[in-house]
Amino acid sequence: MPRQISRQSLDRHVLLIAELLACESASLKFRDQLIRFGPASMPLSSSSCLLLRRPLSSARVRLRQQMGCSDAYVAIVCGDILRTPLSGAVQLRVTQFTPVHSAGLLALSQSIGWQQTLEDWHRIFEAGMVFGHRSTEGEVVSSTALFVYGRALASIGMVIVRKDLRRQGLARAVIQHCLADLPNPETPTMLVARPDGQRLYGQLGFREVEPVHRLISRQRPDAHARCDISPLAVNDFTAIHQLDTEVYGANRETALKARIAQSDGGAVLRGGQARGVTGFALMTHQHDLLMVGPVIAPEFEAAVALIATLVAGYNRPVQIDIPDRQRQLLDVLRREGFQHDCTCPLMLLHAQNLPGRREQLFALSNRSLG
Ligand SMILES: CC(C)(COP(=O)(O)OP(=O)(O)OC[C@H]1O[C@@H](n2cnc3c(N)ncnc32)[C@H](O)[C@@H]1OP(=O)(O)O)[C@@H](O)C(=O)NCCC(=O)NCCS
Repeated sequence: MPRQISRQSLDRHVLLIAELLACESASLKFRDQLIRFGPASMPLSSSSCLLLRRPLSSARVRLRQQMGCSDAYVAIVCGDILRTPLSGAVQLRVTQFTPVHSAGLLALSQSIGWQQTLEDWHRIFEAGMVFGHRSTEGEVVSSTALFVYGRALASIGMVIVRKDLRRQGLARAVIQHCLADLPNPETPTMLVARPDGQRLYGQLGFREVEPVHRLISRQRPDAHARCDISPLAVNDFTAIHQLDTEVYGANRETALKARIAQSDGGAVLRGGQARGVTGFALMTHQHDLLMVGPVIAPEFEAAVALIATLVAGYNRPVQIDIPDRQRQLLDVLRREGFQHDCTCPLMLLHAQNLPGRREQLFALSNRSLG
C-alpha cells in the first residue's frame, strides 16, 4: 500500500516535515497532503511524523543505501507509519507554569547541572512567564522563560528539556508557543544560545547578533575609591530605570525590580553638574558565585570602577557576561586575572540589531534576562 506513493512526492514531504514538524496543525497538514498521494485510509498522525526522526536501525540504513532513498521512504516501505503507537512526548501540551511549579522547575534545571536556586526560579516568575510541558504524571519535563519588555524587546531563557524526552520537538513547541504569546508578533526577541540550542534557534529564524563572553575570576579588579560611585539606594530606582530603558531600548521595569530585589548589592555612578545617574551595576549570588550584571556606564573605565566597587570585600568567584563589542573592558578584566569561561552567541529574531544605546551596556543582566 505505501508503495503507491511516488518517491518524488515523499521526498517533498520530508522537506515539509523538516520545516513544520512538532506543530500539531502542521503535522495534520502534512497528513492531509500525504493522503492525497496515497490511499485515503492511511492513518497518519503527528506521532507518525515523529517516527521519521528516529535513528534508523543498521538494517534500515543498509536498505536506504541500497535503494538510495530517504529515511521517510524507508520508514514507509517498512510499514512503520501504519504501526507506530502514539509516542508519550507528542501527546504533551505546552502549559504556562506558575510559582507553584518552582520546585519541579528547579529539579529540571538541577537534572542538567544548572546552578539556579529556588529563589532564582521565584525571581524568574516575578520578571516573566514560564512555559513548558508536564509528563502525564505531572512532572515538569521542559521549560522556557519569556521576558517581555513592552513591544520593543523580549528575551527568552531557561530552555530545557528533560534528557530522555529530547529530539521529539518539545523545545521547538514551547519556544513557538512563547513567540505566539508575544503582545506584538514582530517584537524583536533575543536569547543567548548555548551549543545545544543553536541549531534549533537558527531553524526558528533567530540570527546571531554578537558573541557574549563569560569571564570568571577569584581575583578582584583593582578598586580605587571614587566619590562619584555610591551604593544603590531605594530612591535611585526612577533614575536607574530611565537609564536602563534608554540603554536597552525597552522598558524592563518588572525585570529590573526583580533583579534589584534579588541583588546582594548595587552601585550607582553620578556625573555632570546635576550629579545625575550616568551608570549603575548590580550583583546577585548563586551558591558561592557572585554574578555581576547589568553594568551600564558611559565608558569602559567607569564600568571597571563600578564592577570593582561592587565586588570589593567579597572573597567569592565573580562571573560576568560581556558583549563582544566591549573589547576594552574584556582586555582590562583579562589583565586583572579574569579567565575566559565560554562564549555563546546572542541571537535575535524579528530584527537585525538590538535596540537602545548598546555601547553603554558593559555586562548583561544575565543570559536569560539579556
Ligand atoms: C537544547 C534543548 C532544549 C533541545 O530540546 P529538544 O526538545 O531536544 O529540541 P527539539 O526536539 O525541539 O529539537 C528540534 C531541533 O533542534 C535541533 N537540536 C535539538 N537538540 C540538538 C542538539 N543537542 N544538537 C544539535 N541540534 C539539536 C535539531 O535540529 C532538532 O531537530 P531534529 O531532532 O529533527 O534533528 C535540549 O537539548 C536541552 O535541554 N539541552 C540542555 C539545556 C540547553 O543547553 N538548553 C539551551 C539553552 S540556550
